[in-house]
Amino acid sequence: MTAPLIDPFARAITYLRVSVTDRCDFRCVYCMSENMSFLPKKDLLTLEELDRMCTTFVQMGVEKLRITGGEPLVRRNIMSFFRSMTRHLDSGALKELTLTTNGSQLHRFSDDLYAAGVRRVNVSLDTLDDEKFSQVTRWGRLKQVLTGIDAAQKAGLRIKINAVALKGFNEEELPRITQWCAERDMDLTWIEVMPMGDIGNEDRLDQYWSLKDVRAEYENHYDVTDLVERTGGPARYVRLAETGQKIGFITPLSHNFCESCNRVRLTCTGELFMCLGQEDRADLRAALRDYPDTNQPLEDAIRAAINLKPKGHDFDYSRQVVDGKMSRHMSHTGG
Ligand code: GTP
Ligand code: 5AD
Ligand code: SF4
Repeated sequence: MTAPLIDPFARAITYLRVSVTDRCDFRCVYCMSENMSFLPKKDLLTLEELDRMCTTFVQMGVEKLRITGGEPLVRRNIMSFFRSMTRHLDSGALKELTLTTNGSQLHRFSDDLYAAGVRRVNVSLDTLDDEKFSQVTRWGRLKQVLTGIDAAQKAGLRIKINAVALKGFNEEELPRITQWCAERDMDLTWIEVMPMGDIGNEDRLDQYWSLKDVRAEYENHYDVTDLVERTGGPARYVRLAETGQKIGFITPLSHNFCESCNRVRLTCTGELFMCLGQEDRADLRAALRDYPDTNQPLEDAIRAAINLKPKGHDFDYSRQVVDGKMSRHMSHTGG
């Protein structure tokens, strides 16, 4: 084990998010435009290269690995990659191997994920209404996702639902979604919509539903207690006394949480993004490919990149204009 990764703001980097593909079988309106161009397959890191990247990060102190996309489960043969990461759980170096998924393929892969050591899965789901689900995902079918969630729970995976809070879209569904999660013993996290990439005719300010208002809505209906517990992710949690369930809030706009950032993001082409809301990036692919027999150049490149991690994002809607917008879509870095 080498020296831990510490950034210029004294934040220890222990969480790596790995986007294994930028492709997706949905086209969520806040995430993608209808006509997306995706990376040519030849630019992708192979699964063996992804293994070497992740292994190097684990050796440098990363304890939590979250596999993302696009939709990670549409990458060909992705289970062999999950299985190859199991050894780091077995050795104790890795504390958590997990993924964020749209749920469309969970009916196929839940048992294999559990067998590989995954215990918790975050499923993105913004509505329980068939029609609205088709609208927001453009290409998705709610039934398939619900079948996937059933399969995941049956396999023993704990589920957290991620819902993007969208004004005028899922506002009135808050009680129903909350109730549904309580009945199924699933955690629920709300996310503020961030200005990531062009999304056609949609307007971010029209979409934005502040989680301050979401929280107030909960307080109108439930007895809400703040929790100190964290999962290593950006969410802050509360408990609802009536149902006993945990509700998370990811509030990049209404309450910046960058001071406790512990994560960086690797894309499927081997670029490392040091912040979701900044352009700073480092190409790790060359350091990996050009030196097949030694990891030193890769370690040096990772350390140099962490030294450039910015203080935080500049997303801001407070002046009724969108500030801090990123040109890339969320699917580029997996959120
Ligand atoms: P847990 O382990 O369950 O806490 O997961 P997590 O919240 O770290 O991961 P998840 O993939 O569920 O993240 C949900 C969403 O939160 C992401 O897709 C992003 O939209 C947002 N998010 C995660 N990390 C950051 C971050 O560092 N900055 C900002 N602005 N948003 C983030
Ligand atoms: N703002 C906030 N969340 C987003 N996601 C995708 N695009 C955005 C955005 N612009 C969410 C998805 C999923 C995760 C990967 O990121 O719903 O939960
Ligand atoms: Fe696909 Fe997730 Fe983006 Fe929706 S939010 S289009 S499911 S990557």
